[in-house]
Amino acid sequence: MDKFIINGGRQLRGTVNISGAKNAAVAILPAVLLSGGVCVIENVPQIKDVTIDLKILAHLGADIRLLNKSAVRIDARRIRNVPIPYELARHIRASYYFLGALLAKFNHAKVSMPGGCDLGDRPIDQHIKCFKSLGAESVIEHGMVEISASSLVGTQVYFDKVTVGATINAMLASVKAQGLTILENAAKEPHIVDLANFLNSMGADIMGAGTDVIKIRGVKSMCETNYTIIPDQIEAGTYMVAAAATKGDVIIKGIIPKHLEPISSKLRKVGAQVVESDECVRVIGATEYERTNIKTMPHPGFPTDMQPQFAALLVLAKGTSILTEGIFDNRFRYVEELRRMGADISVDGKVAVIEGVERLTGAQVKAADLRAGAALMIAGLSASGTTQVEEIRHIERGYEDMDLKLKALGADIVKRKFPDVEVMARVG
Ligand code: UD1
Repeated sequence: MDKFIINGGRQLRGTVNISGAKNAAVAILPAVLLSGGVCVIENVPQIKDVTIDLKILAHLGADIRLLNKSAVRIDARRIRNVPIPYELARHIRASYYFLGALLAKFNHAKVSMPGGCDLGDRPIDQHIKCFKSLGAESVIEHGMVEISASSLVGTQVYFDKVTVGATINAMLASVKAQGLTILENAAKEPHIVDLANFLNSMGADIMGAGTDVIKIRGVKSMCETNYTIIPDQIEAGTYMVAAAATKGDVIIKGIIPKHLEPISSKLRKVGAQVVESDECVRVIGATEYERTNIKTMPHPGFPTDMQPQFAALLVLAKGTSILTEGIFDNRFRYVEELRRMGADISVDGKVAVIEGVERLTGAQVKAADLRAGAALMIAGLSASGTTQVEEIRHIERGYEDMDLKLKALGADIVKRKFPDVEVMARVG
């Protein structure tokens, strides 16, 4: 139960390097088992979700070696088809990508129902729909999802809603199916394209990723590859908003500006300066911010994973801003905590109404989920006084060295063990 202690009110200044994309990494790592050989994956973020994925791969029989801080060599030659238990799968949502990957490799997979952030109801009906359409049967019993097929045959699937997870699982499951699979109403997020590029580098035949129709022609076998994961658009966006909220001046490096367009455009709208170049974006904060309205939508709309962080900026904007959550049922779990810091926010269902206030004041707050935690970090950085952010295990699931990166930008932040063993010893 570690926590971050932030003495707020310092402007962030300098350059921050962005790590590899969490949501791409957690799709690509399970896909490695399809290679049947040795793959080297670079730009892997050092975050808890990746550690869990690597533990699952090791549980399946992969030999894993870290080549440096962000490169990993995975030998998938001895992968076995064994169930993935609750203790491993419960920590991350993306553990369900092993369903698609194992199904493609062994025509069978048994994985505990996935965990991840509590953002409301998160069914997996669209994943199952696609597996069934490929010819597999599914049973959910004792908390385990079991999928089996005598063979997988190419199919046409129309997703009832745009879902990142089901699109990825469908790509994984169909990559070796006989014939052509067509996915319609597919998600278009950058990590979908990255997974397609990765699978193609292993010999897959996938076209159209990044549009709403993806065509996958099944191949007989796949090969080894070396691959570099794209930068994390949400980590980059989080530092962009943190720069603005602290009225700072930060260069966010190692990014793909195109992936950040919805965030850059909203930051400009409220009054920050955003200057793009090849692999960098510079955010120069304003002294005051204007109100705005945001509705989260599938890519290329405004990402739901940036909604809490943007709220932490809008609480300080002049006037009334309206945030509408268009993806998840329960993504305002940070609101209560921001109120403790002086924010004026009311929530009705999937809509939050934010009345801008002059300032936030530091308080003891708890991260309810990953991006809620990021929002509290931003609020703590801009607030006057000290903020203690608890439950930082959520933040560490998705942000590499967040405290160190912020410190390098001038933030006054420390990570404390809780309970603090030294303090406990002193008070007896
Ligand atoms: C992924 C991301 C997450 C991001 C989200 C939306 C990963 C590991 N996580 O989550 O960071 O916030 O996309 O961009 O990449 N749904 C169904 N049935 C299904 C699947 C989804 O009804 O079978 C619903 C969900 O409840 C949600 C919506 O579809 O309301 C979108 O979910 P989805 O895009 O699948 O999100 P995740 O893949 O879970």
